[in-house]
Amino acid sequence: MLNMGTKAAAGRYSALALLCHWGFAALFIYGVIKQVDDVGQLADADFLRFEMVFAIIFLILLAGRFAYMKARAVSALPAATPAWQRRAATFVHYGMYASLAAIALSGILIGCLYAAGLTSGLILEAALELHGVTVLLSYWLISIHIAAALYHRWLGDGVWNAMVPVWKERANRARR
Ligand code: HEM
Ligand code: HEM
Repeated sequence: MLNMGTKAAAGRYSALALLCHWGFAALFIYGVIKQVDDVGQLADADFLRFEMVFAIIFLILLAGRFAYMKARAVSALPAATPAWQRRAATFVHYGMYASLAAIALSGILIGCLYAAGLTSGLILEAALELHGVTVLLSYWLISIHIAAALYHRWLGDGVWNAMVPVWKERANRARR
């Protein structure tokens, strides 16, 4: 997954790693709930400033989380996990980071264009389209990620328990 080194015991995430994962998931859900409903809302300078500050904080926290997880966290995937599954997990994890960063960056681009007076037209439309596509991509990747987490819970191989503090898995189907 993100790092297969020997920085920590595989199968365990530190309290900070859990906070990074779940705190950021909450921040993302907040970002989606409070999303801009209409581009015309950006005409309100305070609203535009809030959106820009939110997106910048979002990016900083995402970068901090990425740096910490890459340096300190070790995937809980069992050693016997097929190589293709490891590659798929790595792809989805990096894809989530990339799509989340792209949402914030395309949002900032929209804000800059709007502040520069491009309040309609092809360029703004293209930025809005990019923003929408990155949002959609993140939904797809997060859905695949959650489906994979549920699959591991069904396997009972410890991956779910390593990251998810609720609805703990019991039996270990993988080792039966
Ligand atoms: C916005 C939602 C979410 C995002 C962006 C996200 C992202 C990530 C990322 C990037 C990782 C790799 C480690 C890291 O860098 O943090 C990870 C690990 C993990 N996530 Fe999520 N996640 C989300 C929601 C969830 C949910 C809802 C579940 C469970 C239902 C879940 C279960 C897991 C598990 C079990 C791991 C550990 C995988 C392993 O040890 O290899 N995640 N998540
Ligand atoms: C991390 C920060 C952000 C998140 C999570 C986020 C999330 C979203 C989501 C989920 C949508 C709906 C997409 C759709 O239904 O196709 C949306 C639309 C939009 N967002 Fe963002 N956004 C962020 C930052 C920004 C910023 C900084 C701006 C501009 C200052 C912005 C401006 C817009 C606009 C104009 C729309 C389209 C509204 C419409 O349909 O007319 N967003 N955003």
